[in-house]
Amino acid sequence: MSGYQSDKRTDAPKIHHTFHVLVNMKQHSNFIGGDWKEGTGSSPNVNPSNLSDTIAMYTQGDVAHVDEAVAAATAAFPAWVSGSVQARSDALDKIGTEILARRDELGRLLAREEGKALPDAVSEVVRAGHIFKFFAGECLRLSGEIIPSVRPEIGVEITREPIGVVGLITPWNFPIAIPAWKIAPALAYGNCVVLKPADLVPGSAWALAEIISRSGIPAGVFNLVMGRGSVIGDALVKHPGVHAISFTGSAGVGARIAAQCASLRKKVQLEMGGKNPQVVLDDADLSQAVELTVQSAFYSTGQRCTAASRIIVTAGIYSRFMAAMKDRMARIYVGDALATGTDIGPVSSQSQLAQNLAYVEIGKEEGASLAVGGERLKRENEGFYMSPALFSESTAEMRINREEIFGPVAGVIRVRDYEEALATANDTEFGLCAGIATSNLKYATHFKRHSHSGMVMVNLPTAGVDYHVAFGGRKGSSYGAREQGRYAQEFFTTVKTAYTYA
Ligand code: UN1
Repeated sequence: MSGYQSDKRTDAPKIHHTFHVLVNMKQHSNFIGGDWKEGTGSSPNVNPSNLSDTIAMYTQGDVAHVDEAVAAATAAFPAWVSGSVQARSDALDKIGTEILARRDELGRLLAREEGKALPDAVSEVVRAGHIFKFFAGECLRLSGEIIPSVRPEIGVEITREPIGVVGLITPWNFPIAIPAWKIAPALAYGNCVVLKPADLVPGSAWALAEIISRSGIPAGVFNLVMGRGSVIGDALVKHPGVHAISFTGSAGVGARIAAQCASLRKKVQLEMGGKNPQVVLDDADLSQAVELTVQSAFYSTGQRCTAASRIIVTAGIYSRFMAAMKDRMARIYVGDALATGTDIGPVSSQSQLAQNLAYVEIGKEEGASLAVGGERLKRENEGFYMSPALFSESTAEMRINREEIFGPVAGVIRVRDYEEALATANDTEFGLCAGIATSNLKYATHFKRHSHSGMVMVNLPTAGVDYHVAFGGRKGSSYGAREQGRYAQEFFTTVKTAYTYA
């Protein structure tokens, strides 16, 4: 996704509050070594559904804050790693309990800062709570192996140890769930953390940090440094005291981070873009196929790396599918994220909106036919609203079907049969998630086996995954070990092989 790059909040001409109002607004600080610390600057968190609504002010850290946070994490590490696993588990459980108890309030904050429709925002908060609960249990289950040596009288033990200090860089599209799914396993397996949340949406991450600050986790084990990716993210990646980086964001930034981490011999985990296919076969249940396509492509304003943006439809169902999609899309309501009845909120930022609308123009210029939407919308309050766009008669070579747009814009590609659908689905530099709508077990099974992606969905939307199983992709979408579930230990631990002669 493009989240990491899109922290262009300060560029956007959308701040209508007077200076007086802003300085009187609550300032949210960084959390370093157990203390709340002011940075060198301050940034307003503005509601994309209503640009005259500034949620609060958030401090902007600088490189000195990164140094302080890494020093605090380094100092806290020995006691944390040798401390009680029960205490770790209890703290993670407590964090999860509080998140779940405050789901409505935190969901409102998330919807207000990111623009996700309120029910989706509350679900995201619930997901974050469940993730902490899951890892509260998981840290008690970390196991190793004891196996015989090939040499007599020698025993071999294989154990997993924490990596040390980890830098977590998270995007704006899941302001609480992605921080949660990086922080929870990092802490569960005994690491110390410096979190740098997206500059565009620091509110949910700050609220999470505040919950963590009261959880009983010792000072320095968890640190929050807010600010720009180019400053804070970059300093974290380069800092010699940070042993591993887990990043979710754009493919371009991910490639740079991977190169830097390789040269510094740092462990790295990247979740980047997607250009996920949704295949619809002739034998699909039409209304189910339409529903899951609308959900995959347009819900959460298409701002999910798991969103489907290439809708690959076989010839026998193509016309019926397009007619049903037009009908269904006419009933999608785009509005204020907090309002009842809103299906899809605004785009999260001015720059993302401009990018989405530019791709709508590119699609038209390339010769695709704009079947529905793709327009800037006016609502009661000024916000970044646009109608979801669906192109018909698009081809696999078009830029709209090759480049990640990260908005509610999708192209429908007509193919002859299943074989062409599979080849088209795999014809991309990305490989996060792929969906198929079919009632035929043979095609479903074949697709599961032959899709070049990390996740496959049969008769389900491509987006919207469980919190307790492996998450990640192939090719340009992901790099390094999988996130989530017990697979998270691959990244957040390092293996030790110990030999004993006794
Ligand atoms: C989901 O679809 O449930 O940045 C999760 C993203 C992904 C998360 C998607 N890492 O959109």
